[in-house]
Amino acid sequence: MASFRRLDHGAQWLALFLCLFALKSVSGQARYSIPEEQPEGSFVGNIARDLGIDVKRLVSGNARIVTKGNRQYVDLNRDRGILVVKERIDREELCKKTTPCSFSFEMILANPIQLYRVTVEVTDVNDNAPVFPKEEIVLKIAETAAPGTRYSLETADDPDVGVNDIQKYMFKSSGNFKLEMQTQSDGSQIVEMVLETPLDREKNEEHSLILVASDGGAPQRSGTARIHITVLDANDNAPVCSKQVYKAEVQENSAIGTVVTTVSANDADKGVNGEVTYSFSRVSKEDKQLFDVNAKTGEITVTSKLDYEKLKSHQLNVRASDHGSHSDTCKVFIQIIDVNDNSPVIQLMSFSNTISEDAPLGTTLAVINVHDDDSERNGIVECSINSDLPFKIESSLSGYYTIVTEEELDRESVSEYNITLTVTDQGSPPLSNQKTIQLKVSDINDNSPRFEEPEYIWTIPENNSPLFSIFTVHATDADWGQNARISYFLEEMYINGASLSSFVSVNAESGLISAAKSFDYEQIKKFGFNITARDAGSPPLSSVVSVKILVQDQNDNAPQVLYPVQTGGSLVAEMVPRSADVGYLVTKVVAVDVDSGQNAWLSYKLQKAADRALFEVGSQNGEIRTIRQVTDKDAVKQRLSVIVEDNGQPSRSATVIVNVAVADSFPEVLSEFTDFTHDKEYNDNLTFYLVLALAVVSFLFITCVVVIISVKIYRWRQSRILYHSNLPVIPYYPPRYSDTLGSGTLPHVYNYDTCRTTDSRKSDCKFGRAGSQNVLIMDPSATGTMQRIQSEKNILDEPDSPLEVCFSHTFL
Ligand SMILES: *[C@@H]1O[C@H](CO)[C@@H](O)[C@H](O)[C@H]1NC(C)=O
Repeated sequence: MASFRRLDHGAQWLALFLCLFALKSVSGQARYSIPEEQPEGSFVGNIARDLGIDVKRLVSGNARIVTKGNRQYVDLNRDRGILVVKERIDREELCKKTTPCSFSFEMILANPIQLYRVTVEVTDVNDNAPVFPKEEIVLKIAETAAPGTRYSLETADDPDVGVNDIQKYMFKSSGNFKLEMQTQSDGSQIVEMVLETPLDREKNEEHSLILVASDGGAPQRSGTARIHITVLDANDNAPVCSKQVYKAEVQENSAIGTVVTTVSANDADKGVNGEVTYSFSRVSKEDKQLFDVNAKTGEITVTSKLDYEKLKSHQLNVRASDHGSHSDTCKVFIQIIDVNDNSPVIQLMSFSNTISEDAPLGTTLAVINVHDDDSERNGIVECSINSDLPFKIESSLSGYYTIVTEEELDRESVSEYNITLTVTDQGSPPLSNQKTIQLKVSDINDNSPRFEEPEYIWTIPENNSPLFSIFTVHATDADWGQNARISYFLEEMYINGASLSSFVSVNAESGLISAAKSFDYEQIKKFGFNITARDAGSPPLSSVVSVKILVQDQNDNAPQVLYPVQTGGSLVAEMVPRSADVGYLVTKVVAVDVDSGQNAWLSYKLQKAADRALFEVGSQNGEIRTIRQVTDKDAVKQRLSVIVEDNGQPSRSATVIVNVAVADSFPEVLSEFTDFTHDKEYNDNLTFYLVLALAVVSFLFITCVVVIISVKIYRWRQSRILYHSNLPVIPYYPPRYSDTLGSGTLPHVYNYDTCRTTDSRKSDCKFGRAGSQNVLIMDPSATGTMQRIQSEKNILDEPDSPLEVCFSHTFL
């Protein structure tokens, strides 16, 4: 209990101050407790009662409240003696966190001064909610954060104290975290967020938690903060192919750069971690050359020419990888679609490039293999050859063909064939191929040599030089090579008993026919033989041609005067009676020419005469006639020189001296000619020798004639042609020929060569020629008459005509 003394007014304040400094002087004190935030006028305490002071004293004592600070929370109701709230008290403002929270003031009474201390304790009222410093807490947490990782959170603040202060924290929705609180030694709290389960950005990139801080007041108050958690990406996801297996088809002729397919893979990671690159993995070297995968887009493109025939499908493994070590592999099956890009190929399995022209039908020339790399229709091939050939194509095994002959071959018409093989497949468009093989037809000796002419007739002038080249026969052979190599041979035979080879020879190589000797037309006019042309084939073939050689006459013989016979010193003379009329035939010069034709066409001319006016010679018949009356003046002896010329080129001639005696009686002549002989100084010896020679010659001649006639008669008996003929051959006596039958001389139009008296001293038995020839034959029914029998038969047809005429002549 306190006792206050009354003090005067001035002194009272002083005293108060004193009291304030010396609380020992406080009369009493009271203590109250009120909750904070009481409205104004709220009752605090009955101080009068509590201090035992009468209310009147309060009034009288002018009781008042003295506070040290500038704020006065409590006021004194003196009349009622109670303390009331003067100003709303905020404990938090007053004491912050200090507990207990109280304030004190003094109540001073005057008269006497009494000082009382009043302490008011302010109790906390839960008037504040916990408040977080930030309403939103932003956190970035890597998704790789391990469970148990702690993240400290800012705590909330609650000005209230005690139970009104923050009592607990909690998450409204926790997610992967839990809260842990620790109270530190100084009483402060640490709130930590602990990762309970791993984060996965790919599942939940953002987490939003609401952290609630609650106090223990009643009613309970709480504050919240939003925790925003962004999960940071980690490269924790492998790319995943959209499909495990891709199937694609591509034509084999696709251009380079064609996109076959596109693979794609997803990576759940974000940003760089989610970037996927594509590459081949475990792909064969070949496939790597054919395809490429775009690292970024996953497009698989063709990079090289595809070939269905090499590989019909490709399997690629594409690895999709991120920048880390994660990857996935997908398979890509690429089916190549066949395109008709392969031409059929022809292969000659066996081929003989020559075939014999006598090959039988069906002979196999070639075996062909045809192949097409494409498949199905693109690989079905047809094979044909050009149709204009004598061959056909046959299919044997599949893909194999044989070319066989279908017609007979003839090298001589077609010696070479170009067989064009055409193969076509059934693709669209179809592809084809061609091959030409050259076939030669080999020769068989099936053609004989053929002469250019069916028969050769050739003329050669007589007196040719030996080895004279007459002409060349030529034969051709349609075959080839040795089969066409021709040699020429003479067919051996005999001509007039002589071997053919003594007449002609033939060059085996060239066919040149040469004379083996000089021919004499007067001996042989023509001859025939055969030439064989033979090829060198095996067996050889040959053909024969007949050759006729005509010997052509040359004017190589001069005319021969048969009459009058020139005897040198003989006294042969023709008598002309002086009474002879004009045109009296004195004599006839008879001459022959063994040549023929023009060469034997004789003409007569008077060359020299004593009296030209008296005689003339018939130029064609050689008749010497008088052309005027003989007179006495004419000499007894007349000597005429007659030239006989043939018509050859150049012409040949002979001269004959004809003595003519113009006299009426022989003695007259004799006397004249005696003179004549005397004039000539005849030598007795010479005359003797001449006579002797004549006798010898005549004897030899007659002997010869007898022998030859005997031989010939023997031969004639065997002759066919004249077997029935009974015409005897008679000697020809030119001087005695009768003039009663016309001219009596042989007209020059006929050849005289029939009668070949070449020389008066020779026997001349010749083979007569039947054609264009005159034969003098004695007709037994008209003896003494000469008949000309002209035979027009061709000697060539009857070369061996045995007609043989033998002449003899005698001298006068
Ligand atoms: C075959 O072909 C060859 C070469 O092309 C040619 O020289 C020849 O004349 C041809 N033969 C035929 C019979 O067409």
